[in-house]
Amino acid sequence: MSLFQLEDIKKEFKHGSTKEQILKGIDLELNKGELTALVGASGSGKSTLLTIAAGLQDLSGGSIKFSGKNMTEMNAEEVREVRAKYFGFVFQHAHLVPFLTVKEQLELMLDTAETKWSKKSREARIEDALTTVDMWEHRDSYPENMSGGEKQRVAIARAIIHEPEILFADEPTASLDSKRSVEVMELIERLARELNITVLMVTHDNDILKYAERIVEMKDGKIIES
Ligand SMILES: Nc1ncnc2c1ncn2[C@@H]1O[C@H](COP(=O)(O)OP(=O)(O)OP(=O)(O)O)[C@@H](O)[C@H]1O
Ligand SMILES: [Mg+2]
Repeated sequence: MSLFQLEDIKKEFKHGSTKEQILKGIDLELNKGELTALVGASGSGKSTLLTIAAGLQDLSGGSIKFSGKNMTEMNAEEVREVRAKYFGFVFQHAHLVPFLTVKEQLELMLDTAETKWSKKSREARIEDALTTVDMWEHRDSYPENMSGGEKQRVAIARAIIHEPEILFADEPTASLDSKRSVEVMELIERLARELNITVLMVTHDNDILKYAERIVEMKDGKIIES
């Protein structure tokens, strides 16, 4: 079932008086619970496409439909609401807050979430998310005492604690060694399979492509294979 559709997405950046077209008409559909990998040379536009899809950056043309709703017709506040309720994000670096414990990182996320949960349900959500990423034992640790893979798993817990429909990930394993990359990918694959989360993931790493159900390749702002 198609959950998310990008239609004829265009993006241009101004460099002085000239305009450069970075995305040249991208069509892409994401199916519920499917893990799609977005690959392509550096500068081909992968991160730009991901941030536009996630509503983090404006587009120059085209439309984005999520659950049948046209996000390009929404105002900024409505887009923010969709993002906060239904989308999760993971980046190359975990970006944890250095002076908060693992559990506090997630509490902070729930404080800023759109939905307000009761204390009991907040506790249960935190335990669930940390158990999913196998970090519950580390709930009182600070980032400086964790490995790169552990930090990334906490970042993933933070991204899924509000039970998003779509997880957008930009090179989530790029800062990890191969063993940690495999762990993080197995986790992301499990999120798609067991929790039915739709995943769009940018990667450079050929070794982790086997986890993707679908591989979409970009070249010079266009999709060349999907
Ligand atoms: N805010 C911006 N202003 C101007 N140009 C930009 C901006 N963001 C990206 N670009 C340009 O758009 C092109 C695509 O960038 P993008 O970051 O999407 O590539 P990418 O495929 O993610 O590359 P990488 O694999 O290196 O991360 C690049 O030429 C980049 O310089
Ligand atoms: Mg990029």
